[in-house]
Amino acid sequence: MKTWALGMILTLLLLPHIHGTAENSRAGCRTVANDLVYIIDGSSSVGVADFDMAKQWLINVTGNFAVGPRHTQVAIVQYSDTPRLEVPLGQHRNSRELIRAIQAIGYLGGSTRTGRALKFAIEHVFPSSGRAGTAQHRIAVVVTDGKSQDDVVDAALEARAQGIVVFAVGVGSEASGPELAALANRPSSTYVLHAEDYATIGCVQDAMQQKLCEESVCPIQTSSFPPNERGFELLSSMKIDQKAPKVQGSLVSEVAYLLSPGLDLTESTRAVFPQGLPPSYVFVATLRLKAPANRAALDLWRIRSKDGSTQTAVTLDGRDKSVIFTTTSSVRQEQCVLFNDRGIQRLFDGSWHQLKLLLKPRRITCFLDDVLIEEQLLEEAMPIYVSGWTQVAKVTKPETTVAVEIQKLRLYCNPEQSDKETACEIYSAVRLQFTTRCNLSYLEF
Ligand SMILES: *[C@@H]1O[C@H](CO)[C@@H](O)[C@H](O)[C@H]1NC(C)=O
Ligand SMILES: *[C@@H]1O[C@H](CO)[C@@H](O)[C@H](O)[C@H]1NC(C)=O
Repeated sequence: MKTWALGMILTLLLLPHIHGTAENSRAGCRTVANDLVYIIDGSSSVGVADFDMAKQWLINVTGNFAVGPRHTQVAIVQYSDTPRLEVPLGQHRNSRELIRAIQAIGYLGGSTRTGRALKFAIEHVFPSSGRAGTAQHRIAVVVTDGKSQDDVVDAALEARAQGIVVFAVGVGSEASGPELAALANRPSSTYVLHAEDYATIGCVQDAMQQKLCEESVCPIQTSSFPPNERGFELLSSMKIDQKAPKVQGSLVSEVAYLLSPGLDLTESTRAVFPQGLPPSYVFVATLRLKAPANRAALDLWRIRSKDGSTQTAVTLDGRDKSVIFTTTSSVRQEQCVLFNDRGIQRLFDGSWHQLKLLLKPRRITCFLDDVLIEEQLLEEAMPIYVSGWTQVAKVTKPETTVAVEIQKLRLYCNPEQSDKETACEIYSAVRLQFTTRCNLSYLEF
């Protein structure tokens, strides 16, 4: 057995300790209750070697989810002319059993009838779930290397009508773009993935895992977010927009909120992040730290478990003008990284700034007003405890709120949103270097 496979199995064996009790439980992609059906192309064009690669890819992608009746249930349909149910939904109590079942799948060969296979999944596999109605999400992932020999539109519409989310993964140049787009949910930029060939399908593993997690843990935001972006609007979920008085923000056109020591911004984490956090996300805060707040150390945002241990925190330390990011770790109780590069010091100069942290599974990148400050490595993080509290702008002891002005406080789940989220609302950033990225006519100074 290859060492990584051994590592994976060991991780899976160690998994039970992440569940905890319902009272004090961790949440993340691992713990969501999804019904996940993989529909994989077993037509003759694929070949045995590539089919094995596809199976391994499924095993890898599924590694993010805890498999079992309480969490993610997986089924696998292989198809060519006709679909064949290889792994029935919810039959495996843990990932080890599931991996064995996937490895045992034999290659079919034949033509490519993708529409028929999706229809089969909708009519026979999803309804076989022992928990129909209670599964949080019903997701189909179709992996195909070629153009379908039957119509996919009907099946896709049927999936939509039943609330089944469809991802399409096209492998190689024969997989037709328009057909994948018709098969998958909209927008295609979210629900369609492409791999060059089966040998490099591993390149879309992180993207697939992140998308499945986003689908599972991140709500779709309506009003203030860019269209189709999932994430968390903390100004509303932390009730800042209800509790704090409005003040003018960084531009005449922007509204901000003035926090004060008398204000308590504390919410149950389960209310703000019911399913925890995704593996990657972008934290964005636009704020002004005036004296004395710019000389204090405050947690701009923090999630704590019931017993007070930090699950995630963004700390602004005005004493030495640094930013500290704290998160969970799989090897110790918590880990933190310090950003104390000279570039970050401006955050404490009393003017408006945009702080952006791009979180990836093993690294974090810090930006101030769109300028890259520093990138640092992280250890693997654990899912967070959602049974405690989420707070904004608190000092440690006593738990008072620091007087800061906040204009934006949100998490985008899609890491690519980091490039799209520009600091155009920051006057100095626009003036100095971003005239090309910001639409000046839209801004009122
Ligand atoms: C599966 O994951 C292992 C370990 O990360 C990697 O070496 C391998 O290339 C992956 N295989 C596929 C097909 O994605
Ligand atoms: C800039 O914003 C203005 C006002 O919203 C709009 O009319 C104009 O088309 C925009 N220009 C560009 C290049 O996006």
